[in-house]
Amino acid sequence: MRILITSALPYANGSVHLGHLAGCYLPADIYFKFKKYLLKEDAIHICGTDEHGVPITIEAEKRKISPSELVKQYHDEIKDTFEKIGVEFTHFSGTARPIHHRLAQEFFLNIYNKGYIKKKEEQTLYCESCKRFLPDRYVEGECPHCGSPGAKGDQCEICGRWLDPASLLSPRCKICGGTPIKKDTFHYYFLLPDLEKKLYDWLSKKDYWKPNVLNYALSWIKEGLRARSITRDMEWGVPVPLEEAKGKVLYVWFDAPIGYISSTKEWAEKIGKPDLWKEYWMNEKVKMVHFIGKDNIVFHAIIWPAMLMADGNYILPDNIPANEYLNMGGGKMSTSRGVAMWVRDYIDKYHPDYLRFGLSLILPETKDSEFSYDEWIQNVNNYLANNFGNLVQRIITFLQKHFSGRVPDRKDPTELENRLLETIKQTKRNYVEFMNNFKFRDALKSAINLSSEANRYIDFAKPWDKIKKSRENAGSVLSYSIAVINSLRVLFYPFIPFSCKKLGKILKQDDLDINILDNPFIDGTQIEKPEILFRKIEEVEVMEKQRQEKKQFVSFKEFSKMDLRVGEIKSAEKVPGTDKLVKIFVNMGNSEKTIVAGIGDVYEVSELIGKKIVVILNLEPRKIKGILSEGMLLAAEVDGKPVLLVPEQDVPPGSIVK
Ligand code: 2FM
Ligand code: ZN
Repeated sequence: MRILITSALPYANGSVHLGHLAGCYLPADIYFKFKKYLLKEDAIHICGTDEHGVPITIEAEKRKISPSELVKQYHDEIKDTFEKIGVEFTHFSGTARPIHHRLAQEFFLNIYNKGYIKKKEEQTLYCESCKRFLPDRYVEGECPHCGSPGAKGDQCEICGRWLDPASLLSPRCKICGGTPIKKDTFHYYFLLPDLEKKLYDWLSKKDYWKPNVLNYALSWIKEGLRARSITRDMEWGVPVPLEEAKGKVLYVWFDAPIGYISSTKEWAEKIGKPDLWKEYWMNEKVKMVHFIGKDNIVFHAIIWPAMLMADGNYILPDNIPANEYLNMGGGKMSTSRGVAMWVRDYIDKYHPDYLRFGLSLILPETKDSEFSYDEWIQNVNNYLANNFGNLVQRIITFLQKHFSGRVPDRKDPTELENRLLETIKQTKRNYVEFMNNFKFRDALKSAINLSSEANRYIDFAKPWDKIKKSRENAGSVLSYSIAVINSLRVLFYPFIPFSCKKLGKILKQDDLDINILDNPFIDGTQIEKPEILFRKIEEVEVMEKQRQEKKQFVSFKEFSKMDLRVGEIKSAEKVPGTDKLVKIFVNMGNSEKTIVAGIGDVYEVSELIGKKIVVILNLEPRKIKGILSEGMLLAAEVDGKPVLLVPEQDVPPGSIVK
């Protein structure tokens, strides 16, 4: 079976956070690894960065760099993060590349020529002081539906409705804050109503989709589809390929999904088989699966299939197993709200498999789920370290000690062993069924249960007792135990690939075929010296409540040991899973320090940036919530709340305080 798996193209305007990973990329990777390595199907996993649109240009303007610089920087960072966390793509492209521009323009022209796109004169918002049109998020105002302030030009995040910037009440230019006027222009509209019937018929056959995805898509159709504007008055983007449309680009959501095709095309060219992409995109037998977060459902289940139908050259998605949100501290993780835990920061400190494992257990498959740091530690320590890790450790150590690492021959199975073999078979059936149906949490739990079963088998069979009386009997227990470990190596692979590869090296097995579970024995294999696979995550230090007031006098000599200096806060972010903790980077003149401070309930992260504060620099560094805090800032305590001490005049960072 040929399978084309795609993951939503991440915007190249920010780093990847845990919400992205759990919502889309981790499930996509689990599914891809399962299909490619365990089922040996012809699966490819396609992605790339989404490099156009207002999210990119606003961020570039904020940083005073060009969109292409921003995009390059984040493309590289995002690609690197995925690699380090083990998310594997067949190809990872970017939509600012010429190959994508060409294809997106061809796509537009094709459906334009077929009559699915119409030009419409209209008035849109224009900022006279910035001298530009204000598409999408360049405008903010009150939502015309729910009245919430701060609604963005394209969507109100409070009521979730999609908006037209011109419909906002009291609109303001996001750049200068001025009030925009309405100005004549024209845009191109994709005639969705012309495809409504076809879309409905197609969707009605998708009764095997997740109900949340199908119902959402159907509810859009039931409300009646409207033509949608697919161009913008902007410079950054794919130029509209029509003479009359100079200065206009395609709307980012029109060009982005075409990125799935252009990325596949780029891959085919890269591997020297330039027509290979057609074997996927133009082959009715291929199953295309789009992994996305729930905020992308309408684009992937309505607009994109409609584009594909209008075009007529390519296959339609077979499934869109969208996930819900991963929340933290009760709300959605979001780059724009600054509430997130960054994968990049995580990888610097812990093993990638620990995060993959912890997230796999709480994937928001049917409803939102909540990431908690403590629960993550517990899951990793209990299931990975204590359950699976311990199983591997005790069996392999025993094998080394008593059999010099050679897997002994087994005897005919006892009743206990027959039960164990039956459990392996049953687990395989369940696991495959779960994985094929995107129930990754259940699949992982079935593997964990098999690991617990194996631990129980060993506790019962007691090879350490048997060895005193019969080497053969003890050896046979080891053979069966290693067979389960070998099965678990395969089952766990899509979830914790790094550790399973390592285990494969120890066991001298590199094949990951699911059918190994039908005969998982490796009797006679000389295995490698054991290596600890999983360590428990150190209990994180709990934040010290409040400093104890010291009543004793301090000598001048003692006081002068303290290195007190002025620092300037360069960046700040909330520490995930906590109410009060904020991680700040402080410029100390000659150096930059990371400080974790309990001020997040009083200060917004945005207001901290640029503040000059007083820091004790030579305080012993300590880990708080896994982050090394290299100093402490000084604050007065007023009614139990911190008030930062700031210099009375502007002084350079690094100035000594005495
Ligand atoms: O929501 C997002 O992050 C978008 N950049 C997803 C695009 S998916 C696809 F259509 F390209
Ligand atoms: Zn303006």
